[in-house]
Amino acid sequence: MTTIGDIIHEELPAFMRRSGKKTLRVLEVGVLRNLDREHLEGDGHSTLAFARLLSRHPGSRYVGIDLDPREAQAAVNSEGFSNFCTFLAGDSIETMWGLAAAGEKFDVVYLDADNDGAATMREYLLAEDLVTSPGLIMGDDMNTDHPEVRKGRVLIPYLHESGAKFKLLQRQTPWDERDILVQEV
Ligand SMILES: C[S@@+](CC[C@H](N)C(=O)[O-])C[C@H]1O[C@@H](n2cnc3c(N)ncnc32)[C@H](O)[C@@H]1O
Repeated sequence: MTTIGDIIHEELPAFMRRSGKKTLRVLEVGVLRNLDREHLEGDGHSTLAFARLLSRHPGSRYVGIDLDPREAQAAVNSEGFSNFCTFLAGDSIETMWGLAAAGEKFDVVYLDADNDGAATMREYLLAEDLVTSPGLIMGDDMNTDHPEVRKGRVLIPYLHESGAKFKLLQRQTPWDERDILVQEV
């Protein structure tokens, strides 16, 4: 069973080898919301996967955006990662816009907030402003044919139509399979 943690621990080190980057600045939009097993299996606890990986590359930095990042912050603090992790409470689009206006840049932007195709598309356009090249834009729940999973419904057709190069990897939950966007820009 492939988890988002497996994908993060595979894709980010591979990107670091390709790009020669020794540290990473990661922006996660939509962070761990509950530490319980059900959310580990369903959501993936990506926040902890990023933080654990970055802890092995001193000088790296993690920023997480969420309407309520308290659970993620507590989880990260409990593993001793608070020195390189920052959480911003707020709406994804407003907060990303603020970061872009402040000139912030990231090597990896991971989109996993609202289950809404139009919102994810707007986040993606902001991610393009926030990511340095070479960099990675990644996103969870990018299925286009799932009855309930909607994040990719606007973005994935847009990427196909614009001829963008990207891949969709799969992670398994106990109930279904989720497509994960990985795009090097
Ligand atoms: C699926 S969970 C993220 C799961 C996490 N990436 C993981 O792997 O454990 C989605 C998160 O997005 C947040 N969210 C939903 N709509 C949002 C919005 N408009 N702005 C910011 N965060 C939002 C929710 O509070 C929730 O914590």
